[in-house]
Amino acid sequence: MTKPLLKVEGLKKYFPVKKGALGRIKGHVKAVDGVSFDVYPGETLGIVGESGCGKSTTGRMIMRLLEPTDGRIEFDGKELTALGAEDMRKMRRDVQMVFQDPFASLNPRHTVGKILEEPLIVHGMKNAAERKKKVREFLEIVGLSEYHAARYPHQFSGGQRQRIGIARALMTNPKLIIADEPVSALDVSIQSQVLNLMQDLQRYFGLTYIFIAHDLGVVRHISDRVGVMYLGRIVELSDSESLYAKPLHPYTQALLSAVPVPDPGFEREQIVLEGDIPSPANPPSGCPFHTRCPFRMDVCMTDVPPLQETEPGHSVACHLYTEETAGNDNKKLVTEGSI
Ligand SMILES: Nc1ncnc2c1ncn2[C@@H]1O[C@H](COP(=O)(O)OP(=O)(O)OP(=O)(O)O)[C@@H](O)[C@H]1O
Ligand SMILES: [Mg+2]
Repeated sequence: MTKPLLKVEGLKKYFPVKKGALGRIKGHVKAVDGVSFDVYPGETLGIVGESGCGKSTTGRMIMRLLEPTDGRIEFDGKELTALGAEDMRKMRRDVQMVFQDPFASLNPRHTVGKILEEPLIVHGMKNAAERKKKVREFLEIVGLSEYHAARYPHQFSGGQRQRIGIARALMTNPKLIIADEPVSALDVSIQSQVLNLMQDLQRYFGLTYIFIAHDLGVVRHISDRVGVMYLGRIVELSDSESLYAKPLHPYTQALLSAVPVPDPGFEREQIVLEGDIPSPANPPSGCPFHTRCPFRMDVCMTDVPPLQETEPGHSVACHLYTEETAGNDNKKLVTEGSI
């Protein structure tokens, strides 16, 4: 069996909340609270969830832009916290990020040529002439033109700027790209162009993607597998087909019910969740979703449900599916075809 390119285990990030003039620590924002998943070479893992559930924090820890509070990250068979300086440099080349807002992430005072050349200079790759050649080549690869190298970011449209952001991420020949809501800021008409480009690049370069998004609609076509996050945890992790055909977690069912159905003959009842997302500084006891769950049982208020595989390739963290509580009548409400 193929080995995962990335292995994340029990990853946590607690941000201290400070109060008063002395800056005493008053508590913690549990932004990521025990997340585990594998990403296999060449696949796309979608990570989905509402604002504030810890998607970007997870991505930033994998990038080593943030130090995890706890947990392990293994990339290409190596534990990241144990890497020496040389291995760390190589890893920084191998893992790149594409951001939501390409305008904020591109230096407005640099030409596109300089922006694209920079990662090569940082990593000591190629001489000046080779770097310029590679810049021209990659502008073409992402659907822009050589002459764009002399222009500045503000001279481009949003979609073109994201193409520049993607080209920049590709310059160091990475293996893994973490795309944090790469199309959320773009017009719907432009979104699919950028998604198609990303898929073409994935095939061409054999890239592996972690694709972060707010809603299940955007990640549907690009993801091989999808992880659904809620309040710092993964509540469901599955291959895409199974997730969209048979969402198990009540939260996934609610998210999916909000995605427009392309087939007009097929109606899906929209599930509107009661209440707001609780604060990650003060998460609910037991299952983090119990305060909003239409199928809440007593056990949900006290015990955290573990992420368990219910069928091959489909895992869910929900007491409706755990051994002891599986006999509950509610279960039949959430089987296939219920929404
Ligand atoms: N540096 C920080 N210090 C304190 N709290 C933080 C910090 N960064 C993020 N958080 C908090 O951690 C939680 C998770 O944030 P994160 O940005 O990972 O969410 P997200 O899922 O990416 O949300 P969005 O969809 O809005 O981008 C939020 O409550 C956020 O306010
Ligand atoms: Mg985010």
